[in-house]
Amino acid sequence: MKRHLLEAADLDREDATLVLDTAAQIDQALAGREVKKLPTLRGRTVVNLFYEDSTRTRISFELAAKRLSADVINFSAKGSSVSKGESLKDTALTLEAMGADAVVVRHSASGAPHRLANWVRGSVVNAGDGTHEHPTQALLDAYTIRQRLGRLEGVRVAIVGDVLHSRVARSNVGLLHTLGAEVTLVAPPTLLPVGVGSWPAEVSYDLDTVLPKSDVVMMLRVQAERMNASFFPSAREYSRRYGLDARRMALLDDEAVVMHPGPMNRGMEIAAEVADSARSTIVEQVANGVSTRMAVLYLLLGGAPE
Ligand code: NCD
Repeated sequence: MKRHLLEAADLDREDATLVLDTAAQIDQALAGREVKKLPTLRGRTVVNLFYEDSTRTRISFELAAKRLSADVINFSAKGSSVSKGESLKDTALTLEAMGADAVVVRHSASGAPHRLANWVRGSVVNAGDGTHEHPTQALLDAYTIRQRLGRLEGVRVAIVGDVLHSRVARSNVGLLHTLGAEVTLVAPPTLLPVGVGSWPAEVSYDLDTVLPKSDVVMMLRVQAERMNASFFPSAREYSRRYGLDARRMALLDDEAVVMHPGPMNRGMEIAAEVADSARSTIVEQVANGVSTRMAVLYLLLGGAPE
């Protein structure tokens, strides 16, 4: 494993598989235990540095570090000296002086974790940077797919919606490709990034033709907060063409699953009845986020498993 996890490309197939296998071992080790805690990272310090809002990712990293017995510091930009104008670099040097072994960072600027990695001695884990990458989300998604379908090689994954603003899509395309899955991006042309043709994925504008050929449908949130222009005529129109409702879900194979990284816009990209259906892995994804992040912290800080 490399020292940092900044983007999906930091993981080759062997490393990615090691993370997934380690997460599975952790799940197994903790299953049915009353005390869900391992002593592995006792005496190590993990700092969660969140400059951007987060529910699942922040809580999940915190829980992951605590379940490995690390000391955890949660730093959110609100209420810190960041609101007094302190720079990322000065914040990083402060953390460094306090001896952080790992810094988990979320930032609205694409590339912020890469900068941080130049300033600290510990490991940096990207927990989402702007519209760039969110590698641990891709790992927990891959883990969830493997758990449900038993494999990743050859699995056909449709990633649907606001690809343009989605760090989840970017990281998933990279990691799924590394792991041998076949990805198709489905979106209106206005929500696809320039240069998408060079990504290791097919592109389609028509959800109804892609669904019957998919084993996994990953719905993306329409990221209204990152939209400074109009990318589609109306929410209703978007939903009609790219939303996953019960009628569309019926086009899927019996075994196919529906994913969403959360937070969801219910009724927009995904209908409530789909999100709450037996095909949905949304709750599993959250649970798997904890074990996958435990595996990442363990491998970055504690070394390979015995
Ligand atoms: C995603 C994120 O923040 O990148 N959520 C998450 O981490 N579970 C996706 C999103 O915000 O739509």
